[in-house]
Amino acid sequence: MIKLVVDNQEIEAKEGTTILQAASALGIPIPTLCFHEALGPYGSCRVCLVEIVKGSRPGLVASCTYPAEEGLVVETNNIRVVRTRKMMVELLLARCPHSEKIRELANNLGIAEPRFDKEDESCILCGLCVRVCREIGINSVGFIQRGANREVTTPFQKPSEVCLGCQACAFLCPTDAIKFEDTAEERKIDKWKTSLKLQECPSCGRPFIPERLQIYLKGKDLLTPEAIDLCELCRRKSLGSRLAT
Ligand code: FES
Repeated sequence: MIKLVVDNQEIEAKEGTTILQAASALGIPIPTLCFHEALGPYGSCRVCLVEIVKGSRPGLVASCTYPAEEGLVVETNNIRVVRTRKMMVELLLARCPHSEKIRELANNLGIAEPRFDKEDESCILCGLCVRVCREIGINSVGFIQRGANREVTTPFQKPSEVCLGCQACAFLCPTDAIKFEDTAEERKIDKWKTSLKLQECPSCGRPFIPERLQIYLKGKDLLTPEAIDLCELCRRKSLGSRLAT
């Protein structure tokens, strides 16, 4: 076990614990954007910055990636941390002025409007969509280019040949930059320039699941055939009638 101090509170943590996890165990909130507990840390948004003192030198680090170390002293909310965090959020607000999540974060830090020129982006390049797609084993999207031209897209910016339409990327996106739309026959994902044919529910005939996703789930053997083949409504009906008998 490692002993460290976070905001004047001592804590013992297991080797491999991050500062974010140690702070959270003490009930100390640190804002995050690109972090998700189900995925490996990435450290791109810098919203979770904290100050550490190691030896005699203080420094700012991303708490979601920095490991707890023996004797480390951490401050999560001092003037330097708050000033830098505000700058990071202000830059994000200028990039994505319409994002509810960023506006809320900015509001909590007392930022009404950014001092920088506003853009009209919705993606903050946090990489959550890329990471979740990779961890599912699909890898249908990735980063391209550098600097101001960096973006997340499909290979060669063409409709994805492997996207399952599972919506995990949209679910994790903190800024709602990825939208899925189901029409009568297809699931459309504009950001990935991809449309997927929907398979009908054999019970009610309603198209509800992308064919590719259904095949993937069957191959994984994680769910019962009924959970994969039937739409949610028919699944519930079937469960209700089984419970009633
Ligand atoms: Fe830590 Fe984004 S949450 S860098």
